[in-house]
Amino acid sequence: MKIYDGKYILIGLLAFVVLATFPIWYDHGKAVPPANPSLNTPVIDAMAHKHCILSKEQMITGHMLLLNQWRTEVVRYGKRLYVAPGGEKYQMSLETECFRCHSNKAEFCDRCHNYAGLAKASDPYCFTCHVVPSETKPGAGAVAMGQKENK
Ligand code: HEC
Ligand code: HEC
Ligand code: HEC
Repeated sequence: MKIYDGKYILIGLLAFVVLATFPIWYDHGKAVPPANPSLNTPVIDAMAHKHCILSKEQMITGHMLLLNQWRTEVVRYGKRLYVAPGGEKYQMSLETECFRCHSNKAEFCDRCHNYAGLAKASDPYCFTCHVVPSETKPGAGAVAMGQKENK
């Protein structure tokens, strides 16, 4: 009786250890790399105090809402200046403002969206109309409306 109890306790313990460490070895097994969006761009490297438009947390969870808000302000109300809570002023523009600092769309936006499984939902949708500045030819206009990019 005692011996059997011991066995069951051991099995129970083993099962517990396996379950408790499941996230660790499961992730290792799948070898999923972290999204790791890169903040290394010339403009960001040159910033003394590295910060985005809103706090990092607000940007991670809310950048799509901010972009939606900007779009409404520009398209519906013709406003183009955004004043951040800290008083800093920004151009409400996906192309000229976000990509002024995040000039590495592939290593920043795309890397994160691919990781989140969003590539098809977000990028092609915005960038059928909007142009990533680094992808435009020097001297070319910023927006080529209606033209699909050749990627
Ligand atoms: C069908 C074409 C089209 C698509 C798709 C599109 N936009 Fe736009 N967007 C426009 C046009 C046209 C304007 C007005 C440009 C202007 O007046 O400067 C605009 C303006 C904006 C603006 C403000 C001005 C600027 O230069 O950025 C933002 C922000 C914006 N769009 C974000 C987005 C986001 C985010 C997506 C994807 C979720 C998106 N748009 C998809 C056509 C499009
Ligand atoms: C003035 C330069 C600048 C502009 C303009 C800017 N960013 Fe940022 N962004 C940064 C910096 C610097 C960080 C890192 C902030 C930190 O570590 O606190 C960042 C962080 C972020 C993050 C979080 C990334 C992470 O580490 O997980 C997102 C998402 C983001 N930005 C999106 C945007 C979008 C979308 C726009 C345009 C609406 C934009 N940014 C405009 C400089 C900028
Ligand atoms: C830290 C990771 C991360 C970074 C960096 C990031 N995004 Fe996102 N983005 C997400 C996630 C996650 C979602 C989906 C959120 C949801 O569905 O609620 C998203 C959604 C969006 C959407 C809404 C898509 C839709 O179809 O509604 C837009 C637009 C967008 N991102 C633009 C950008 C741009 C532009 C950049 C680079 C300047 C960027 N994001 C950088 C994680 C990121």
